[in-house]
Amino acid sequence: MSKIQSIKGFADLFAPQSYLYTFMEDTARRVFGSYGYHELRTPLMEYTELFQRSIGTETDVVQKEMYTFPDRKDRSLTLRPEATAGVMRAYIEHNCHAREGVSKFFTCGPMFRYERPQKGRMRQFHQLNCECLGAHEPQVDAEVLLMLMFFLKEMGLKELKPEVNTLGCRECRPAYREALTGFLHRIAPATLCEDCQRRMGTNPMRLLDCKVPACKEQIEGAPRIREHVCAECAAHFDTVLAILDAQGTAYVINPNLVRGLDYYTRTTFEVVSADIGAQGSVAGGGRYDGLVQQLGGPDVPGIGFACGMERLALMLESRLDEQPRPDFYFAVLTPEAANTALLAAQSLRECRLVGEMSFESKSLKSQLRQASRMGSEYCLIMGEAEFAAKSVVVKHMDSGEQVTIARATLRDWAAIRYEQKLNKERRRLP
Ligand code: HAM
Repeated sequence: MSKIQSIKGFADLFAPQSYLYTFMEDTARRVFGSYGYHELRTPLMEYTELFQRSIGTETDVVQKEMYTFPDRKDRSLTLRPEATAGVMRAYIEHNCHAREGVSKFFTCGPMFRYERPQKGRMRQFHQLNCECLGAHEPQVDAEVLLMLMFFLKEMGLKELKPEVNTLGCRECRPAYREALTGFLHRIAPATLCEDCQRRMGTNPMRLLDCKVPACKEQIEGAPRIREHVCAECAAHFDTVLAILDAQGTAYVINPNLVRGLDYYTRTTFEVVSADIGAQGSVAGGGRYDGLVQQLGGPDVPGIGFACGMERLALMLESRLDEQPRPDFYFAVLTPEAANTALLAAQSLRECRLVGEMSFESKSLKSQLRQASRMGSEYCLIMGEAEFAAKSVVVKHMDSGEQVTIARATLRDWAAIRYEQKLNKERRRLP
């Protein structure tokens, strides 16, 4: 019979790779939690209209990349291609704005986009996502950016710099679009890629961040949005930059950063790495002041970002060598000791130690080999003599030193071992 395989662009994540995802989620919960972000779990599927109305019907995501299908009653459903739209829907549906002035949400999990899979680009990928709703002050933009950079730093990614830009607001963007369109009309359409030719009519600002070299060359000299935004937008952006400067966070102003989703206004940003191949955008986000209202909610401003976990994982691979070692491997040399050893191992785990017991009756030599293969710090040995004497041998795997202790004191040994582990962990904190 033929074997069933996974869907192209959907991956199985085994350990130790999966540990990286746990590490990212743990760090995100700790760091984002320290700024008052609370976890919100939204459904993986929503009505298609939600994404059309928020991300924009002319975007690549909505036009080409969504997993959309009818349900049994012929309603159009879509697997979420990003988290922001679902968070907005939940915020409006549950009337969150009536309960609190500012709401901060953290969301993580799988997203789905029908893109061409390659290194760092999957059809099912994972995002860590933050949204702050209800505050229009530039200090919030700065806090969100500082939080993102602090999160990356806490994972050991210290060298990254955000690219930042402002996209103006509802008031000043139309005039900029006009200036840009005037410039673009002077370019011969045939010299642009197909996407740019199409976007010329639908979303001319997207031409600014086209990666095709010929298009890049053509748009050099295009009017800069920062020079066209209104006084409020300019002051807003200047304040954000001044806070980043005061904090010593390095950034690059990229006047061509427009982002691929339609809902952005004012501050936008992206963190790009040169070390992970063509798909270098590790995180991206920005302000989206009209979005809640556009989806039928109150006129509440918002800002947020998402980090791509697959891309972060590529940058974190070296951390796989730092995985904590199991505390013990329990070698059992005689079948009659098996039940006693099993209960002893159980009590060690109740003392928060990590380890496994051997269930096969193999020689001591082969069980020690197994303990060392698993990287265990200690091998606990129970043979016929130890079983009879109610004792256990504790062998330190690196030094080879071993002592025999009474079985009744095993929990005391475990408590000391756990304390040592905690101290080691504390010393690792930045
Ligand atoms: P986005 O730029 O579309 O923004 O995606 C954010 C991040 O998700 C990207 O920087 C990238 O790391 C990752 N990503 C996107 N597509 C893929 C893929 N096919 N495979 C692997 N990783 C991918 C958003 O999704 C916005 N919702 C972010 C946001 C939140 N803006 C405001 N709030």
